[in-house]
Amino acid sequence: MSDFDLIVIGAGPGGYVAALRAARAGMRVACIDERATAGGTCLNVGCIPSKALLSSTERWAELKALAEHGIETEAARFDLSRMMARKDKVVSDLTKGIAFLFKKAGVEFIQGRARIAAPGRVTVGEREISARHILIATGSAPAALRNVPFDEKLVLSSTGALSLAKMPEKLVVVGAGVIGLEIGQIWSRLGAKVTVVEYLDRILPGIDGELARNAQRILARQGIDFTLNAAVKAIARDGEAASVEIENRGSGELETLAADAVLVAIGRRPHTAGLGLEALEVRQDTRGFVEVDAQFRTSVPGILAIGDVVPGPMLAHKAEEDAAACIDALAGKPHGAPDYGLVPGVVYTAPEIAGVGLTEDDAGTSGRAVLVGKASFLANGRARAIGATDGFAKVIACAATGRLLGAHILGHGAGELLQELVLGLRLGTTLAEIAGTSHAHPGMGEAVKEACVAALSSAAT
Ligand code: NAI
Repeated sequence: MSDFDLIVIGAGPGGYVAALRAARAGMRVACIDERATAGGTCLNVGCIPSKALLSSTERWAELKALAEHGIETEAARFDLSRMMARKDKVVSDLTKGIAFLFKKAGVEFIQGRARIAAPGRVTVGEREISARHILIATGSAPAALRNVPFDEKLVLSSTGALSLAKMPEKLVVVGAGVIGLEIGQIWSRLGAKVTVVEYLDRILPGIDGELARNAQRILARQGIDFTLNAAVKAIARDGEAASVEIENRGSGELETLAADAVLVAIGRRPHTAGLGLEALEVRQDTRGFVEVDAQFRTSVPGILAIGDVVPGPMLAHKAEEDAAACIDALAGKPHGAPDYGLVPGVVYTAPEIAGVGLTEDDAGTSGRAVLVGKASFLANGRARAIGATDGFAKVIACAATGRLLGAHILGHGAGELLQELVLGLRLGTTLAEIAGTSHAHPGMGEAVKEACVAALSSAAT
């Protein structure tokens, strides 16, 4: 008999959710991670620490606007080490929470680097354990620029950029994606001169273009510089300083940016090194993602994979969806693969940038007949009262049926506001149903309703 029914490799939001779900379904489960704490990138060095620092720095940034509220703050100052200590505590409280859940559910947590010796057999250091099923949930790792390895002092990945002991005076961020903007905003708020260098001619590829353009304008107003359409040619290190040579992709003009630190945030790659997948002939695509079927089975029987190592959006909540579908299928209750078209994306800058489903750009390229409606927060009473008038809500629906196809919100709390539209999209809700639903007044959510009303009236004209 095997030692376990299931060995999960990786304890991130994919792996730990899978391990707990399997244990609750009665399986004997081990979960292996090379970190001492569970939670993966998301909890330890990603989503959670970045949100903790975004929250601290947002409070600092808000101090400047308090005079408008009739509140005087004298000699306010921040202590970076205490800010970092708070962030570390938020992380350790959450990772301890997972350790507690593992204990309660009877999941054995094993710290170490796992290698799949053969289907059903995993080695961790000196130990070899066996199981009927092995689940790869090893996540992803930051992509580096060619010939510029991370040193986490001058050339930083998100991990280094969330743990700096000293404020960089000049921070160059390579990549205007989710990580670049969130972490760029953290350091910009604390006083760093932040320049974001992006290869494409727009920020946030994949996000609705109108939202991205408006977000860029607002972030620029806050003090972040953007250099778009620029290729990084080289990054030179000189003692404690770096210089970033960039080339304008249109004119070919070269420019050198001086920096105390360079954050490289150009995407993430599936993390499979050292697992032994090549020897086992587990099929991977050309970009290194593990190929799986609708029940997350790889090409090798008994080996499954979920989360960032398989295709789809590289997001914690997507990994959780994968985990649920995979484990339920394993437990004999398959309910189909998750619909990645229903996975929301949120950039936690201020203002937040959130979207789900079809973008207006997608609708344009596909030639699909759609209704589009927008409502600005400028005309929203709550937004005015709290001083959060930047941004708008936008809905996109099928012109023939009125059913929601996509929703995109830029503004204060956009991620939470979007959630009713994610549910609406999943349930096939129409514009008229949302417009006919009572939304509390005064509330930012009224803009969601108003966007639906606007889309409906665009159909009438
Ligand atoms: P990303 O894919 O969001 O953005 C990377 C950006 O870098 C793109 O705009 C791309 O055009 C640009 N780029 C690529 N190569 C470049 C080069 N050589 N020079 C200049 N620009 C270049 O990737 P990011 O920000 O690194 O995030 C990685 C993953 O983590 C994403 O899948 C993201 O969704 C996820 N994540 C999600 C968060 C959230 O949900 N709030 C927070 C942080 C990360």
